[in-house]
Amino acid sequence: MKKVLFAVVAITWLTTGFSFAVDDHQMHNEVMHKQGGPTTDSRTELTHIPAPMKVMHKAMMRQHMDHVSQIAAALAANDLNKASDIAVTNLGWSQARAQECSVFEPVKSGSDYTILATAMHKKADELADAAKSGHRDKAFQAMAELIHNCNECHKKFRH
Ligand code: HEC
Repeated sequence: MKKVLFAVVAITWLTTGFSFAVDDHQMHNEVMHKQGGPTTDSRTELTHIPAPMKVMHKAMMRQHMDHVSQIAAALAANDLNKASDIAVTNLGWSQARAQECSVFEPVKSGSDYTILATAMHKKADELADAAKSGHRDKAFQAMAELIHNCNECHKKFRH
C-alpha cells in the first residue's frame, strides 16, 4: 500500500513539475513574442575562426570585461592614474593590438569589424587621457561610450 501511495505521489509530483516546465516555456515564448525582438540571429558569423581560437577569443573578451570593471573601481576610488594605466595597458590602441584584432577580421579588405574594434580601443585611450588629466567625469563618460562601443560589435558579429 505504502509503495502504491509513494508511486502516486511521485507520479503526481513529476507530472505537475513537467506541466510547470511546459507552462514556463510557453510563458517565456509569449513574453519574447510580445517584446517583438528578432527570433533569428542575423549577425555576421565569424566562420573563418577555428574552434580553439574562438575559445581564446572569448577568454580575451572576458578579460576585457574584467578590465572595464577594474577601471570602474579605480574611478570610483578616485584613483585616476590607476584607471588610466589599466585602460592604456589592457584596452588601448597600438600596432600590436591592431595585429591581434586583424586575425578576427572576416573580410580581407576590411569590414565593420576592424572599424568597430579600432573605435573601441581608441575610446579606451580617450578614457585614459581624461583620467590622467584629472577629469573623472569625462573619464566616466568615455567609459559609458567604451561599453557602448563593445556592444556595437556584439550587435553585428558572432561566433
Ligand atoms: C570588434 C568586435 C568586438 C568588440 C569591439 C568587442 N567584442 Fe566582445 N565579443 C565579440 C564577439 C564576436 C564575441 C562572440 C559572440 C558569440 O558568442 O557569438 C564576443 C563575446 C564577448 C563576451 C562573451 C564571452 C563568453 O565567454 O562567451 C564578452 C563578455 C565580451 N565579448 C565582452 C566585451 C567587452 C567588455 C568589450 C569592450 C571592452 C568587447 N567585448 C568588445 C566581438 C567584440
